[in-house]
Amino acid sequence: MNEIQIAIDGPASAGKSTIAKILANDLKYVYVDTGAMYRAITVAVLRSGIAPEDESSVSALVPSLEISFAPGEPVQKVFLNQKEITQEIRSIEVTANVSEISSYAAVRDLMTQLQRKIANNGGVVMDGRDIGTTVLPKAEVKIFLIASVHERALRRYKENQAKGMTESLAEIEAAVQKRDYLDSTRLISPLKKASDAIEVDTTGLSISEVVKIIKQIINEKHANN
Ligand code: DC
Repeated sequence: MNEIQIAIDGPASAGKSTIAKILANDLKYVYVDTGAMYRAITVAVLRSGIAPEDESSVSALVPSLEISFAPGEPVQKVFLNQKEITQEIRSIEVTANVSEISSYAAVRDLMTQLQRKIANNGGVVMDGRDIGTTVLPKAEVKIFLIASVHERALRRYKENQAKGMTESLAEIEAAVQKRDYLDSTRLISPLKKASDAIEVDTTGLSISEVVKIIKQIINEKHANN
């Protein structure tokens, strides 16, 4: 089967990266977690002492940053200027600031260029917010993954507890709602279902059930091409 581009978009904690990674492994495709890229930039901004709301200083910093990935378990390893930041990108502080930083044009332009460059090399499963609408508008398969706010917060809460993080469920639910709002109301490339994307609601479904549904969608697309 010809290698294709698979775009998986949706709100925070809908299960995009878990599902995208499994699909990429099974298909032997490259997996690209674009949220991790915006998180890596946020780490750099916070470390540099630049205020996240200072758009011009953030924009001036971004071209000097090198973001890279390496395979890892259970998550891909992420590097900023060749130093590993896999854990740091998931901190509460990074999560609280990433939506603002990812709303800046200079940040989005550079990340979009980088994402397209990676996708040009063959089969790719890319997850994010604007992959089907902006980054890869010609992707053969576009999935828009959603789940209720409560279920998404609960998933994040369980993951955090396993890592020893102490945020309450109510705090996580509020943070998820705030990120949904910021990501879907920003001016440039907001979180939005592409007109040709297929919506999959993962509320109440297991990971393997979601993977099965998406594989069916991929197979149907191939049968029709
Ligand atoms: O998927 P995530 O939670 O790791 O994403 C972190 C943030 O990055 C998210 O709140 C919005 C931003 N983001 C984006 O603007 N565009 C993308 N393609 C991916 C993520």
